[in-house]
Amino acid sequence: MPTSKKVSKAIKDLFPRNYKGRIYDLGSGFGTMLIFFASQYPQAEIIGYELSFFPFWISKLLCRRYKNITIFKKDFRGEKLKQGWIYLFLFSKGTRSLDCAQFQGSVVLSNTFQLASQYTKKMDVADLYRSSLYLYDFKKNGSLF
Ligand SMILES: C[S@@+](CC[C@H](N)C(=O)[O-])C[C@H]1O[C@@H](n2cnc3c(N)ncnc32)[C@H](O)[C@@H]1O
Repeated sequence: MPTSKKVSKAIKDLFPRNYKGRIYDLGSGFGTMLIFFASQYPQAEIIGYELSFFPFWISKLLCRRYKNITIFKKDFRGEKLKQGWIYLFLFSKGTRSLDCAQFQGSVVLSNTFQLASQYTKKMDVADLYRSSLYLYDFKKNGSLF
């Protein structure tokens, strides 16, 4: 299931303005959010990880015009991620079982499902699914931006 438009709008409100850093979509599906991030933050580096064959190749096709998007056909778990903002929209058990050590130095935004760590901020979104966004600040200095 792709991220809803209302959630995308809420994400934009949470992100730093004119963000120029790195943005990961871990489990990037058909690339909807990769394109959203690339359009909103043309100077940022956008990185997707997608495990499944079909969505991966569709996303490669749809994202081909965006020079700042890179997509890996890979399980992101255990990958060495660089610092940045990380977007997740996975599923309940999968999200809770993630090792948060992988996210140290970054800010994580998880759609609907919580990590096994205390969130820094929660935002409820009035979309069809009554989604919530959970923000986790894993930056060492505690600064969000
Ligand atoms: C609900 S979709 C979200 C797609 C996109 N992020 C969005 O918000 O529109 C979740 C995607 O994560 C992928 N996925 C789940 N676990 C993964 C993993 N460990 N590594 C890479 N991709 C994964 C699934 O194949 C699926 O395409």
